Order: sequence, then C-alpha cells, then structure tokens
Amino acid sequence: MYQCMNHRFQEYSVLLLPKAVVLCMYLEAGGVDLQGRSVVELGAGTGLVGIVAALLGANVTVTDRELAVEFLKSNVQDNLPKELEHKMSVKALNWGSGLEHFSHFDVILGADIIYLEETFQDLLKTIIHLSTEHTVILLSCRLRYQRDHNFLDMMRKHFTVDQVHYDKNVDVYIYKAQKAQREEF
Ligand SMILES: C[S@@+](CC[C@H](N)C(=O)[O-])C[C@H]1O[C@@H](n2cnc3c(N)ncnc32)[C@H](O)[C@@H]1O
Repeated sequence: MYQCMNHRFQEYSVLLLPKAVVLCMYLEAGGVDLQGRSVVELGAGTGLVGIVAALLGANVTVTDRELAVEFLKSNVQDNLPKELEHKMSVKALNWGSGLEHFSHFDVILGADIIYLEETFQDLLKTIIHLSTEHTVILLSCRLRYQRDHNFLDMMRKHFTVDQVHYDKNVDVYIYKAQKAQREEF
C-alpha cells in the first residue's frame, strides 16, 4: 500500500525508512485491526506509517517535534488521498511535554523512535500517558546497541512486551506492547 505514495516519497521511503516500511507491511498484513480505531503515530517523520494506517481505516493523529511538523504536514498533504483527509490530523508532540492536550488511543505506532537515550524517559512517559490497558503499541526498530535493549526493559516495567515480527532482510524487529493488567482486589 505504501507503494501508492507519490514517486519521490516511495523511493525515499524504501531506501531510508526500512523500519517504517516493515511496520507498514505488518499493518497491511493485518497485524492489528485498524478499522475505525484511533491511532497515534509518534516521531512520525514523513508520516508514512500514519498514512498507511489511515488507508487501512483508522482515524490517525500523526505527531512529531514542533520543528518537524511543517515537513510532516506537507508530506501528508502530498500523499493522503483527498477523501481521507478527515481521517488524519497532524500535531506537534514533543515526548514528555504538553501531554495534557492528548488523551488515550486504541493503537500507538512508532517506527525507529528508540534511538536517543536521553529521550527514553520522556518517550516512555508519553506512551504511558497515551495508553490504557486496551491500547496496542507497535514499535519497529533495529536492536543494535545495549541502549535499545535498555528501552525495551524500561517498557517491560509497565507493559507486557512481545516480539511479533522480524524481517531478516533489513534486520528490523516489531515489538507489540500492552499495559500490564493490574490484579483485581
Ligand atoms: C529516526 S526518525 C524516524 C522517523 C519515522 N518514524 C521513520 O521511521 O521514518 C525519529 C523521529 O523521532 C522524532 N523525535 C526525536 N526526538 C523526539 C522527541 N523528543 N519528541 C518527539 N519526536 C521526536 C524525530 O523528529 C524523528 O522524526
């Protein structure tokens, strides 16, 4: 489905966005039901994953840092079919701040967002804020450094985290996380 994006975007994405492309393919294959779901993409960059989620029937908020939002907006405008414009919004979301402006989502998506150790606490805080026990979180990443594993360990303190996919051609993993159920008393 990401192949229907405009030509320049398509070439760019295949060459430079393997984690986003692998996540898109997982979504296209039905990895999670997106029909009518509220979805937020964190650190969206080009917005590729969010656009594919909208094409698959979700109501999507794509987010990135303030300074990346103009680029994100123009990419979404260039690549999202007009009839789906009402299903997608673009917002600034700097991890860890202004979270009171955001509520819960059914699905949280993130491609290649586990990479800056200094952002890990804020990223985790953001994911915790945006999720309930019913929220499905999908993160695609490479696991190159110890710090990448460290983030997954931080996630495991609050969520159950499972590897649900590995693409050996591009060495990209997808992890699915869900808030750990609290015991009923
Ligand atoms: C490596 S890029 C991945 C972009 C896109 N998800 C992809 O796979 O092509 C990481 C993204 O995270 C965003 N990012 C980094 N630090 C952030 C922060 N503190 N708050 C929000 N977004 C952040 C960057 O602006 C960038 O778009």
